[in-house]
Amino acid sequence: MEEGIERFCNGAASGQTTILGAEWDNARMAIPIKTAADIDGMRLAGRLASEVLDMLTPYVRAGVTTKEIDRLAHDYMVNVQGGIPATLGYQPAGYPAYPASLCTSLNDVVCHGIPDDRPLKNGDVINIDVTVIKNGWHGDNSRMFVVGEGSIAARRLCKITFDAMWKGIVKVRPGARLGDIGHAIQTFAENEGFSVVREFCGHGVGAKFHEEPQVLHYGRPGTLETLEPGMIFTIEPMINAGKRDIKEDRKGARPYDGWTIVTRDRSLSAQWEHSVLVTETGYEVLTVSAGSPDAPEFASAGYGGSVGRHPSATLQAPADRASALVTSP
Ligand code: MF3
Ligand code: CO
Ligand code: CO
Repeated sequence: MEEGIERFCNGAASGQTTILGAEWDNARMAIPIKTAADIDGMRLAGRLASEVLDMLTPYVRAGVTTKEIDRLAHDYMVNVQGGIPATLGYQPAGYPAYPASLCTSLNDVVCHGIPDDRPLKNGDVINIDVTVIKNGWHGDNSRMFVVGEGSIAARRLCKITFDAMWKGIVKVRPGARLGDIGHAIQTFAENEGFSVVREFCGHGVGAKFHEEPQVLHYGRPGTLETLEPGMIFTIEPMINAGKRDIKEDRKGARPYDGWTIVTRDRSLSAQWEHSVLVTETGYEVLTVSAGSPDAPEFASAGYGGSVGRHPSATLQAPADRASALVTSP
């Protein structure tokens, strides 16, 4: 493993995003259980986080810079939603303070891309990851967008990654194990010929941006923590078209920005993310809003017990705009 990337390991104690430490001892994990009032707070934060992505969707098109997208999102979170962009100034141990109100991860960028002055161009695939704090609660979610039509390969990667996230979500219920989620995601993605990034994982989310548990996107069924009602965590698989390996983005003469991660082979990478509650009977996706893409057919419970989503809402984007890539199977 490249020096520097080791910083991602064992980061859970410092509240880091993602992480992977072989030494991690699951027996010591204490996963917060949310009360009914906490869950109400998380439903609101989750809906707002999803609504930021709804608001941004028509702007994600050729010629727009990721900095412009960042500014739109910042102003919406602060002035319209009365919330706080969780990523702005976010500084886990070993990282510089994150300088923007969302992450924009383009093409071969796996995660944590920082908005900049380069305009989007047709064919780009971009993940936009938004976390809003509202009344102290964090709602964390991301979607993929394809600028213009995009190649068949790019669209397929985004679609398979969306379905991979949902393969994990539908495993969520009391008594299930975290390994069940990772296994479902991994087997699905690998059967499609793609690979699963190992160094970053989902995470508990609530009063803290990143808390226990770690939610791996690969693994073995029947292993790791047992889910209980009131747990809330993200499922956010990063899926590569090529090999699973990653590296820090040190291309060119620029100093490393401290955040941007790319695929080692520079193949395309995609990611989708939801914040998910374990209910008494299954799951409820908290990051849901009128513009949320339809759940796949195999997720017959859809978003679960969520409120506030318009049942007929689908993303209808003009052909010259980016479309959140959710086509029917
Ligand atoms: N939203 C990311 C996640 O899903 C974390 C981004 S941290 C940042 O966990 F500082 F890079 F913004
Ligand atoms: Co997250
Ligand atoms: Co996120």
